[in-house]
Amino acid sequence: MASFTLAITGASGALYSMRTMAALLERGCHIELIVSEYGRRLLRDELGEAASVDKLGDYLEAVYGEGIRAGRWTLHSNKDLGANIASGSQDCEGMVVVPCSMKTLAGIAHGLSRNLVERAADVMLKERRTLIIVPRETPMSLPQLRNMVLCAESGALMMPAMPAFYQMPKTLDDLSDFMAGKILSALGFRHELYPAWKG
Ligand SMILES: Cc1cc2nc3c(=O)[nH]c(=O)nc-3n(C[C@H](O)[C@H](O)[C@H](O)COP(=O)(O)O)c2cc1C
Repeated sequence: MASFTLAITGASGALYSMRTMAALLERGCHIELIVSEYGRRLLRDELGEAASVDKLGDYLEAVYGEGIRAGRWTLHSNKDLGANIASGSQDCEGMVVVPCSMKTLAGIAHGLSRNLVERAADVMLKERRTLIIVPRETPMSLPQLRNMVLCAESGALMMPAMPAFYQMPKTLDDLSDFMAGKILSALGFRHELYPAWKG
């Protein structure tokens, strides 16, 4: 079972994280899940009480179908710096921070490891494993832009929450499918979350 860390932080775009989580579960992955305090608030603020962290299984199955049962997840406390994914010896293939707040972006960029999201991301960078960061803010300050460059220079793949419109999206799900599809492609999965561009 392939294992990936999924971190949800307090930037707008909860739907992207849910679509990504469902797509990984549908592919039989094991997810090491971390949800920051503001990530928890975001899930409720943007998707309603049904998407509270303690109800995620029911939420994902209701929205994306029983295919999500093919995978498993382990929920970690963001305060637990002794979790398995805080160590490079853990067999985790890659990590996605979606959505990524400017605060967490800064913490990763500067290697602060103040919580499990930042530490697990730091582990990905030091072990030269895949780290995908999906930042969201607009407009962006110079420090925020510089933090993105720092992360990219350290080896992270910067994938701003910028869905395309050339696919003629009709719904919010079309937009979240596009971002989740981009993330899955970067993790090496084939998918049909959005139609391939035919030119
Ligand atoms: C509903 C909501 C939406 C937010 N959207 C953003 C956002 O898009 N980008 C951002 O950087 N911060 C956003 N914030 C602020 C962050 O949540 C805040 O800076 C928080 O401290 C981030 O902490 P975390 O990275 O540990 O989750 C938002 C907060 C709330 C409550």
